Amino acid sequence: MPSIHHHISTLRAALNSYRGQQDSKQCIALVPTMGNLHEGHLELVKLAKQHADIVVVSIFVNPTQFGVGEDFDSYPRTLDADVAKLATVDADYVFAPSIDEMYPVLPPPTSVRAGEITTQLCGQSRPNHFDGVGIVVSKLFNIVQPEVAVFGQKDYQQLAIIQQIVRDLSYPIEIIGAPIVRAADGLALSSRNQYLTEDERNIAPVLHQELQRLAEQLMQGQHLEQGLAPLLTETRARITEADFKIDYLEVKTAQLDSLETDGASASFDGNQQELVILVAAWLGRARLLDNQLVTVKLP
Ligand code: PAF
Repeated sequence: MPSIHHHISTLRAALNSYRGQQDSKQCIALVPTMGNLHEGHLELVKLAKQHADIVVVSIFVNPTQFGVGEDFDSYPRTLDADVAKLATVDADYVFAPSIDEMYPVLPPPTSVRAGEITTQLCGQSRPNHFDGVGIVVSKLFNIVQPEVAVFGQKDYQQLAIIQQIVRDLSYPIEIIGAPIVRAADGLALSSRNQYLTEDERNIAPVLHQELQRLAEQLMQGQHLEQGLAPLLTETRARITEADFKIDYLEVKTAQLDSLETDGASASFDGNQQELVILVAAWLGRARLLDNQLVTVKLP
């Protein structure tokens, strides 16, 4: 079973005992989560295990990344079940702090803001969300001081923001993006999938299917004939028809630059470019996120 710590001081003491060893400097990996773990989280831990000797999984439903009216109060808290699942993948430590332990003052007067990248996509409808992610992840990095940290690629924008924070604040941490884990019907695994009713769960895979269809159209070069806008309009219409309320559906460069900006040519390689299709859409109570990388020909 992983060893559980609720306090920063005891976790630090436990981890320092590895760092203190003269002969073998053990590599520590951090997997930050909000708990209610599913197979996707366990894959993050398995990947962390491949890169480190000791894996710390944090479980903390972070209040600063939830907006007013969002699901902070109802977010499922399932610590005992989470710890049992983590035991099956040999996680070494669970860090499950209280809100007071993480935030002596709430909201914290200190902020970690990653700038423009946070204002697009999810940042449009969740204006302070990534500031909350920025501060909690920075705190976790300072508490655990890992050599490696693993995040899921399902939260594509979050991963890009964390990579930027690591670069800008000179954290000596390698950030690893883990592939999206999907159910057999293609739905990206997420703790929020459990908000779906049975009918909605049957509809939910449409999101992934539509991303794949759009990716296929882009690979075939349909945007070269008719432009991107009509393809996006058709995709939005199909997703809406399936009963989703779209928050956004966008195509960006893999670095999250707009296609119209100079940034688009920054990753230009011959006449090929890697793009990412990103979607956030509501289905009933669940806000679902998904994305799909695709390499396309440019005009
Ligand atoms: O992706 C999540 O679960 C959260 O945003 C994270 C990274 C654990 C920060 O609270």
